[in-house]
Amino acid sequence: MVGHRISRLVPQLLRILWSSVRGGRWRQFKQVALQGFSIALKEASRRQVPLVGRPSLNLGPPFEPTPLFQMATGYWASQAIYVAARLGIADVLAAGPRSGQELADATGSDRQSLGRLLRALCAMGVFRTPAADRFALAPLGEALRSGVPGSLRAMVLTLGEIHYEAWGQLFHSVKTGASAFQRAFGAPLFEYLGRDPEAGTRFNEAMTDFSALVSYAVLLAYDFSDVRSIVDLGGGCGELLTSILRMYPAMQGTVLDTPAVIAAAESRLASGPARERCTLLAGSFLEAVPPGADVYLMSGVIHDWDEDHAIRILRNCQGSMARHGRVLVVECVVPEGHDASFSKLLDLNMLVMNGGRERTRTEFRELFDAAGLRMTRVIPTLSPLCIVEAARK
Ligand SMILES: C[S@@+](CC[C@H](N)C(=O)[O-])C[C@H]1O[C@@H](n2cnc3c(N)ncnc32)[C@H](O)[C@@H]1O
Repeated sequence: MVGHRISRLVPQLLRILWSSVRGGRWRQFKQVALQGFSIALKEASRRQVPLVGRPSLNLGPPFEPTPLFQMATGYWASQAIYVAARLGIADVLAAGPRSGQELADATGSDRQSLGRLLRALCAMGVFRTPAADRFALAPLGEALRSGVPGSLRAMVLTLGEIHYEAWGQLFHSVKTGASAFQRAFGAPLFEYLGRDPEAGTRFNEAMTDFSALVSYAVLLAYDFSDVRSIVDLGGGCGELLTSILRMYPAMQGTVLDTPAVIAAAESRLASGPARERCTLLAGSFLEAVPPGADVYLMSGVIHDWDEDHAIRILRNCQGSMARHGRVLVVECVVPEGHDASFSKLLDLNMLVMNGGRERTRTEFRELFDAAGLRMTRVIPTLSPLCIVEAARK
């Protein structure tokens, strides 16, 4: 069994490796495959930087705040990181260490206040001080740079802006079951993103950067060699789909997303053989999906929606897919029970942002069942996400 899995994985790994080298994406592949998500986890535990439920500020002896206090002040740390990302400090430091005054000049900030922000972020391990009044990037801070493989800058910006504001209304969500975002912004998330170009661009960039990491995990975990046509529903700017198309040169693909996102994808997607096999389609998966595809892929989509909407999307797939077709949902699967899992806070984020939810294996099975589908496999990946596969009943 294990031997069989390894013998399947090795050719897949080699193919991805070759396609990454050929496509000039070697650094990105190396980061995911060799170091992957473990870098952030290791650094975080070494530095005591906040991950879910982890101490946020290492204030050192003699004062060690209780974990509860540290969790409650977690937003101090997240806003400090957000401001550093917004000022572009990591991009300035990419050229080498700078003094506090140089950073204040480069970012148009108040020298004293910026110095205090940098001191706090050095204590958290984001930056470091190689000499007196010299600031440099620490390994954690590298991901705050823009345009580098594994960049989290756009994600930090969207988390620090629309997510932060919406989370301020969590109380409303818990009392009513409704989306906190709607309360904070007066419109549902995706409608709002369609009419605020800055927030929309930040969100798309964050999703695209995340997809770049996820795509390797998906390609390593799933064999698409018998797939001729694939539709990526809510596929954003096409990062995941074009990664798959690059690996499988005979495959045709379609990204379906909202008109604003498709317009962004059109200007963002680089030309090349994968782009030529990729159709960009503006529409709503709540209304209809393109017919006859072998695979309907949804990465980070079903969790945006409550049961009624999620069933509607899956029913549209069920009614349109080829007879042998498959639905692939790339998402966290919440472990049963009360053990620590990132998926449990992510679940709250889905409630806050669009009234959606993360689901357990059983909940996925029931969801597919209600849409006329049968859950066939739950495939773990190297990332925190799984590929949940379903076919027609
Ligand atoms: C959380 S993002 C995931 C994006 C992408 N799959 C990824 O992983 O990077 C959800 C996507 O669903 C799209 N979306 C939301 N409502 C939609 C609708 N009614 N029809 C099509 N796409 C929609 C959004 O524009 C967004 O790109």
